[in-house]
Amino acid sequence: MKVGFIGAGRVGSTAAYTLINNLEIDEIVLVDILGDLAEGEALDLLHASYALDKPAEIRGGTSYSLAEGCELVVVTAGVARKPGMSRMDLLRQNAEIMRKVAEELKQHCGGSVVLVVTNPVDIMTYVLWRETGFPREKVIGMGGALDTSRLRSILRRPTRGLVLGEHGDGMFIYGEDRRFEEGVRSVAMEVIKRKGATIFGPAASIYRMAKAILTDSQEILPSSVVLEGEYGLRDVAIGVPAKLGRSGIIEIIEIDEIREELSRSALVLLERLREIGY
Ligand code: APR
Repeated sequence: MKVGFIGAGRVGSTAAYTLINNLEIDEIVLVDILGDLAEGEALDLLHASYALDKPAEIRGGTSYSLAEGCELVVVTAGVARKPGMSRMDLLRQNAEIMRKVAEELKQHCGGSVVLVVTNPVDIMTYVLWRETGFPREKVIGMGGALDTSRLRSILRRPTRGLVLGEHGDGMFIYGEDRRFEEGVRSVAMEVIKRKGATIFGPAASIYRMAKAILTDSQEILPSSVVLEGEYGLRDVAIGVPAKLGRSGIIEIIEIDEIREELSRSALVLLERLREIGY
């Protein structure tokens, strides 16, 4: 099993560490444009893998050719929003990065399942899908799985509730008291205010989705998926319940009760996609 990480920053490297800890992975590669960062992280992770008695082949560098032959590629490459930067600036900048990443993945990673994490994740998932031309089953965004863990952490009890729709203001809860929506929506900011970024939550949620994919578990998890007529929507990626397995999205689950809410959330995403030329 070989897994690639495009972006060896905080979330990418922490996710790699979580995967080494919890899954049987033969090979991990990290790719980052930032000088020696990926190589350094890879060496550090290699030492960790031996300390954990989970020895794996771990390499890093700036060349995407390292990622050839990956079953799964996790994309966290991007820039974080800086003070003074508008939401649209961030959107444009990260979309440009996704186009570059797509170009490389097309060359080196045809056949891999791609898990997109860069925010705003629904838009980035769509851009990566469009620009790679990969089958939509193979390009999946991570957002709702994290929001659903946040919901559980607020409830402090198990729930069958799922957080669906846009990973952002347009999210909504299905199957649990919707009064918790505001809490789920604002809790990431509580982390960012205090430590500057969310890291462990996203990394663990990447692990959760990677596990479903790599072990072919067929688990249903909220996933950002490009819709092609499901829920009456198309040409947009948005969080819906999806069955995950080795080939990516195995099945998109349609729930009648959420159609209206999902359409409302999708409208905003479609508008943003239009604003960046899709
Ligand atoms: N190819 C490879 N790596 C790239 C590219 C590219 N074209 N462009 C940027 N990067 C790298 C940066 O060099 C940086 O190391 O992406 C990395 C991003 O890491 P961080 O800045 O530490 O960001 P992080 O906190 O990991 O968040 C990454 O995940 O959860 C989301 O909202 C979060 O969009 C953000 C993403």
